Amino acid sequence: MARVLVTRRLTDGGTDPLTEAGHEVVGPADDDRPLTAQELCDGAAANDAIVCLLTDRIDAEVLRAGQAGGRLRVVGNAAVGYDNIDVTTARELNIAVCNTPGVLDATTADLAFLLILAATRTATGAEDDLRHGRWTGWGFNTHLARDVNGATLGLVGYGRIARAVADRAAGFDMEVLHTSRTDTGLPGYIPTLSELLPRADIVSLHVPLTESTHHLIGAAELALMKPTAVIINTARGPVLDEDALVDALEGGTIFGAGLDVFEGEPQVNPRLLTAPRTTLLPHIGSATIGTRTRMAQLACQGVTDVLAGRTPPNLVT
Ligand code: GLV
Repeated sequence: MARVLVTRRLTDGGTDPLTEAGHEVVGPADDDRPLTAQELCDGAAANDAIVCLLTDRIDAEVLRAGQAGGRLRVVGNAAVGYDNIDVTTARELNIAVCNTPGVLDATTADLAFLLILAATRTATGAEDDLRHGRWTGWGFNTHLARDVNGATLGLVGYGRIARAVADRAAGFDMEVLHTSRTDTGLPGYIPTLSELLPRADIVSLHVPLTESTHHLIGAAELALMKPTAVIINTARGPVLDEDALVDALEGGTIFGAGLDVFEGEPQVNPRLLTAPRTTLLPHIGSATIGTRTRMAQLACQGVTDVLAGRTPPNLVT
């Protein structure tokens, strides 16, 4: 029996794979607050495994504390993105890392589509007018936005979530283009970002955050987009340069934006809060009870597999 630190409260049933395998689950803190860096180090030193969230920074210090404690064998991230974990150090120290691919694709694609619709139809500004008493009556020329149906959707990255967004776009009669590091050989493939951006009415980002995707979309890329275009980010905040985005929105060189992720989350760039034609959501892409439970269980199952000497399908390193 191993001892597993679960850093935050998970949805009901989330830790079942651990408890069913007979492991002891320690944590989460009763008040469901994020653990401090010191608490993560202490937890790494004292446990055989950690199940963490994307808000926990599992950096070299935490991993080295785990190595020094002599017990830590695996970190299960209850998220598909794992930029919060120093996987290079984990690999060096022979600490396995798992994530949650597959189980959140449809839910996150739904959310991306929600943002596509809300941002393109300027739903947030329209609702804000209604809620704040600025709606004086049905107007032929008020709240005029842009069509999603028939628009060209440009997907940046073409992994599972992007493909699920493409499936949804088919129901809206959209033309779907995509670009990715390697040629997918599929219809709609555009070899470069700079060729895709001027063609898309709606650009949706679906790349992991790495050194090479940090500020993948900055001033130069935004300048390639149509002045009528909308940008959607459900990937990771730092993929998009927020100050450049606000400049583009304020300058009218793009039409709108829908964001679920932010560069400094949970802090939100104050310029974004006042930028025109934006819909901003607090990183809720995978936030449904069913999906969060599947994510928790997959992370815990990966940890259980590693502890049992098996190689889980969701092993990152
Ligand atoms: C959510 O953002 C995830 O990476 O799972």
